Amino acid sequence: MPSTVIVGAQWGDEGKGKVVDLVSDDYDYVVRYGGGNNAGHTIVHNGQTLAMRLIPCGIMCKTITPVIGNGVVVDPHVLANELKTLHDDGISTDKLVISGNAHLIMPWHVALDGASEKRLGNKKVGTTKNGIGPCYQDKVARTGIRVQDLLDPDVFRDKVTSVLAIKNLVLDKIYGLPTYSVDEICDEYAPFADMMRPYVTSTEHLLSHAIRDGKKVLFEGAQATMLDVDHGTYPFVTSSSCTAGGACTGSGLGPTQIQKVCGVSKAYITRVGSGPFPTEQFGEDGDTLRSVGHEFGVVTGRPRRCGWFDAVVARYATEVNGLTDMAITKLDVLSAFDTIKVCVAYDIDGTRVEDFPTDSTQVNNPNLKPIYEELPGWKGVDISGCRKFEELPENAQKYIHFLEQQIGVPVSIIGCGPDHDQTILHGWNN
Ligand code: GDP
Ligand code: IMO
Ligand code: MG
Repeated sequence: MPSTVIVGAQWGDEGKGKVVDLVSDDYDYVVRYGGGNNAGHTIVHNGQTLAMRLIPCGIMCKTITPVIGNGVVVDPHVLANELKTLHDDGISTDKLVISGNAHLIMPWHVALDGASEKRLGNKKVGTTKNGIGPCYQDKVARTGIRVQDLLDPDVFRDKVTSVLAIKNLVLDKIYGLPTYSVDEICDEYAPFADMMRPYVTSTEHLLSHAIRDGKKVLFEGAQATMLDVDHGTYPFVTSSSCTAGGACTGSGLGPTQIQKVCGVSKAYITRVGSGPFPTEQFGEDGDTLRSVGHEFGVVTGRPRRCGWFDAVVARYATEVNGLTDMAITKLDVLSAFDTIKVCVAYDIDGTRVEDFPTDSTQVNNPNLKPIYEELPGWKGVDISGCRKFEELPENAQKYIHFLEQQIGVPVSIIGCGPDHDQTILHGWNN
C-alpha cells in the first residue's frame, strides 16, 4: 500500500507544491484529488519558478503519470493555458490523465462566484472568484456537467440546455447579469473537447490497477485542512474536501490503500481571504513575515495575512488527517526575528483550550486569545544552505523539536528556501 498524501495543514499556501516536487521522484503517479484553479502551487528548480494551478506538480518528472482525479473541478480555459505554458517550456504533458468524472467549471460558475461575493459585501468569503464554489454546488445538486459529457456533443448540448434554463433565470432575475445561449457555450467548449479527449480516461480503474501492480501513488492536496468544507473554519472555507479523506473520494482509491499522510505547515502561518485567524499579526511582526516570506497570493496576488505558528491548528490537522509526518517549510523566514512565538493553546473567556474549537461561535469569540510560548531565535543566520538537520543553528533545531512535541508527529521535511534543493530530509522515508 505504498501511497502517500501530501496535505495542507494550515489555511493553504504552505508549500505543498514544493514538497510534492521534492518527493515525487519515488512515485509512479501524482494525483490531484480536489479543488481546481483556486490552487497555486509553486515549484522552483535552480532559480526557475513554475506555478501550477490545475495540473499536478509531478508533471515535472518524466517517469510520473500526473492524474487530475474525479474530485477536481476543471476550467478548460485554465487547463488550455497551463498545457500551453508547459509545452512552451518544453515539458511533455503526454502522460497526463484526466478523470471523465471530474466536473467542468462553466462561465456561469465564474460569474456567479463574483456576484455572490459582491452580494455578501463585508461578509464575503474572499474567494478566488474562479467559480469553484458554484461548480461544486452544481455537483452536489446533481446538475453539474462532467468532463465525459463534453466529449459527446449531443450529451453536452443536452446538459447545457437543461442547466441554462435555470441558470439564465438566476443570472438575469437575481443578479442582473448577462445570460448565455446554448449555441455560444457549445461553440466555446467544442475545441476543449478535442483538447481534452486524449487525456480523458477512467482514472479510478487506472489507479486501482496501478496499486494492484505494486505502483506508488502520491496525492497532491490542494487548499488545506482549515479550508476544508467540513473541517475548516466554515463558512470561510473552500467548497471541497481538502483533508486526507478527500484523497479517497477524489480519486476512487480506498483508505486501506493509503499508508502515509504528510501534513505541510509553514514555520509560521498565513491565510488569504476572510475568516478567523487567531494568531494573525497586524503590526511589525506580520509585516516582516509578509515581506521576508514574499507572502502574496500566487492566484490573486493578494497580500497574505500572516501570523505566528499555531500549534492548536497543527494538532487539529494531525487529528483530522491522521498525519504520520509533518513538513515544516519556510524556516529560513524566521531568521528575521530575535525571538519566535508559538501559540500552544487558546484562552477563551478565561479557559485554556488546547483542542481547536469545532464550534464556530467559540472560534469567532472576540475574547479568544492565543497563549504563546516565546522561543529564542537565530536572527541573521542564513540557513538557506543547510542540508542536514545538524547544520541548523541550535535554536532552529530546538524550534523544530518544540514543534514536534506540540504537534505529536515527527517533522521529517524542513524547508530552508524556495528552491527544490533548499531542503532538509529529516527521517523522511516512503
Ligand atoms: P502551495 O499552494 O502549498 O503549493 O504553496 P504556494 O506555492 O502557494 O506558496 C508557497 C510559497 O513559498 C512559494 O512561493 C514557494 O516557492 C515558497 N516556498 C516553499 N518552501 C519554501 C521554503 O522552505 N522557504 C522559502 N523561503 N520559500 C518557500
Ligand atoms: P493552495 O492549493 C490559499 C481560499 C480563498 C478563500 C477561500 C474560498 O494554493 O494552497 P474559493 O475560490 O476556493 O471558493 O475560495 O479559500 N483558498 C486558498 N487560500 N491557498 C489556496 O490553494 C486556496 N484555495 C482557496 O482565498 O478564502
Ligand atoms: Mg498556493
